[in-house]
Formats: sequence, C-alpha cells, structure tokens
Amino acid sequence: MSSVKDPRVITCKAAIAWGPGEPLVLEEVELDPPHPMEIRIKVVCTSLCRSDITQWESKAHAPLFPRIFGHEASGIVESTGEGVTEFMEGDHVLTLFTGECRTCKHCISGKSNMCQVLGLERKGLMHSDQKTRFSIRGKPIYHYCAVSSFSEYTVVHSGCAVKISSTAPLEKICLLSCGVAAGLGAAWKVADISEGSNVVIFGLGTVGLSIAQGAKVRGASRIIGVDINPEKQEKGKAFGITDFINPDDYNEPVSQVIKRITDGGADYSFECVGDTSMITTALQSCSDGWGLTVTLGVPKVKPEVTAHYGLLLSGRTLKGSLFGGWKPKSDLPSLVDMYLKKEIQIDQFITHNLQFEDINKAFDLMRQGKCLRCVIHMPQQYS
Ligand SMILES: NC(=O)c1ccc[n+]([C@@H]2O[C@H](COP(=O)([O-])OP(=O)(O)OC[C@H]3O[C@@H](n4cnc5c(N)ncnc54)[C@H](O)[C@@H]3O)[C@@H](O)[C@H]2O)c1
Ligand SMILES: [Zn+2]
Ligand SMILES: [Zn+2]
Repeated sequence: MSSVKDPRVITCKAAIAWGPGEPLVLEEVELDPPHPMEIRIKVVCTSLCRSDITQWESKAHAPLFPRIFGHEASGIVESTGEGVTEFMEGDHVLTLFTGECRTCKHCISGKSNMCQVLGLERKGLMHSDQKTRFSIRGKPIYHYCAVSSFSEYTVVHSGCAVKISSTAPLEKICLLSCGVAAGLGAAWKVADISEGSNVVIFGLGTVGLSIAQGAKVRGASRIIGVDINPEKQEKGKAFGITDFINPDDYNEPVSQVIKRITDGGADYSFECVGDTSMITTALQSCSDGWGLTVTLGVPKVKPEVTAHYGLLLSGRTLKGSLFGGWKPKSDLPSLVDMYLKKEIQIDQFITHNLQFEDINKAFDLMRQGKCLRCVIHMPQQYS
C-alpha cells in the first residue's frame, strides 16, 4: 500500500555532502513541512564558516552522511508549524546554530548561552524528535547544527532563528549568524577588553578579525595579530591589527616574541585557529597575574589541551566560548542595529560572492586561505 504524501512536503535543491571531504552535489531533496514549534525558511544567503569545513573533512566521528552543511545564514520565513506565534510568513530571520529556548536554567541565567534544550546539535538530527526533515530518494539526510542552510529551503526550530529588521541587507548580515558575532562577543562579552590594553589574536580569519574590530572599538592600544598566511598582514590593518607576527619569520617561539614586545605578556589572548596546541601558546603569551586567554577555535584533531600548571598558578585564566557568549535570540537584533548604524563593519569580511551552483568554489577558496567569507546567494530573488 502506498502512503499518501503530505502535500506540504516541498522539493528543492540542496548541496549534499555524500562523504567526508567529497565535493558537494546539488540535488533535488524533499523537505518536510515545519513540525510543531518549527519554521520553514527560504534561505536567501548563506556564508561558509571554517566549522563547516572542519566537520565536512572530519573522519573522527561516526559518519553522518549524506548531510547538508551550512549554519551561517539569512532567510525569509516560508511557513510556520503548529504553536508558533513568534514568526509569520515573510519575516526576515537569521538562523542560530545554538538556540535559545528562553525557559531552561541556562537561558534564564545571565551567565550562559548554552541552552539545555536547543544547544549545539551534534547528531545531525532535529532537537525535538531526533529525526531529519530532509530526505533524498527516501533516504534521510542528516542536518548540521540543526540549521543546514546549504539548501534553498530549510526547517529549523523556532528557537533556532531570530527575527531581524526587514531593512537589513540579508546578503551581508548573514555573517552575524556565526563568525562576526562570535568574534565581537569574545572581545566584548567574554573578555570584556578594557581601554589601553594589549591584545594578541592567533588566527586572522573572520573570527579573529572580528575580535580585532571589537578590541579597536574598546580602545585597545595594541592589537597583535598572529597568522602563518602572510597575506593576513595587509588584511588585518583594515580591522585594527597594529602589529603582525608570522611565526615562520622567527627562530624563537612566538610567545617569547609577544612577551618581549608587551613587557611580559598580553592582557588578553584569543585562539581562533582551531588547534589546541595554539591554546598553550596563547596562554604562554599572556601576562602573569591577570592574563586572560579566550579560546574559540574548533579543533580538527586532538581535542585535549596541555599546559604547564604554573601558567595557571601564576594568575592566568583560560575561558572557552561558543558564539561569543551572546544569547543568540536576545542579543543578535542589537548587533544588526549596530551594523545599520555603521557602528560595526561586516561588508569588508565578504571577499567573495558566489551563486549556489558554485558552492564548491567557496570550499576551495577557504581551504586555500584565499577568502575571509564567501557569501553564497540562493537562486530565488526576494523583495
Ligand atoms: N566558538 C565559536 O562560536 C566559533 C564560531 C565560528 C568559528 N569558530 C572556529 O573558529 C576558528 C576560526 O574560524 P574562521 O572562520 O575565522 O576560520 P579561518 O579559516 O577563516 O581562519 C583561521 C586563520 O588561522 C590561520 N592559521 C592556521 N594555522 C595557523 C597557525 N598554526 N598559526 C597561526 N595562524 C594559523 C589561517 O591562516 C587563517 O587565517 C575555526 O576553528 C572555527 O571552526 C568558532
Ligand atoms: Zn560558524
Ligand atoms: Zn534554553
């Protein structure tokens, strides 16, 4: 007996990863209507973040393929599921790779953005029923961070999207959905950088350079950028980097160089590479007594951190942060407003604009270190 298909199931094009590191393939997929408390979004723009690449390349975990990646996106609500009162068809939204239910212990606490209900999803499924909404030829397709924006349409929990001003350009502010907001939050909320301080940033991608932007706004006197890609020297200047260090240019450990030029170590150091050995270097580059290291990178290999205990005993602090500590639903609209008032810059991070069918080019550019953010434009136009 054949089952009658729900007429609200739609077919659309999505970029499918069939295996780790395999180029994405644009294929027709079926997408369920939004379940209770979910919304279906017409994706307008999605940018590629390093975390998509790290997970796509990873062979470390149980394979979650086929899978639709993408978690830094803007779009328009196409339909809403039962019980959704917060969104209406036509609302402009940003997707949230870590959600906010607004009722759990963490959401109520002023100290955390680690929602217990809609936090970072690692199993490739939807939070509510541990199932997928996408399928291809009857086979389920795994989600990524319960967002999966490398698709013309996607379904997310209503707690994993935030309504934003319809005057904000969706092709720019998609960057606030992850990288730019994560960096600004690390500088302002997590580290709370004070005026006149010395800051060192390891890794000058969009995350690291957003920290630089945040440090500049706070009046840091010295913002030292460390990167093995020499092209980041020029790029960094536009975001407030005052000193550039390429570790390959020195015969001594980079932490020694930083200690020398900062009279004993920086006030704040940030790890934005995704390499846990860099966390050790970041700690070593900080000052005794008050040095604060904030780590944001998602490691490709070896998740363990090793550091000499004396580094902590002498007064340093090591902190981690997801999405810059922002409560995503509550805090993102004000970052969008800051962008509209030209108080923060986003446009300069967009080094490439690509059409959806060229999505693999974005992967190549990022792996080759040739871009900050590639914004991928979905075929549909919006008004
Ligand atoms: N915690 C969060 O909420 C969050 C959010 C977004 C991204 N991330 C993670 O943050 C990291 C940065 O993201 P991105 O999108 O800016 O990535 P990116 O790839 O654009 O930037 C990384 C930079 O690090 C540099 N680099 C690589 N190896 C280095 C080394 N040994 N020493 C110094 N520099 C080195 C690269 O040249 C590049 O400029 C990634 O690990 C990403 O997964 C975390
Ligand atoms: Zn990201
Ligand atoms: Zn919550």
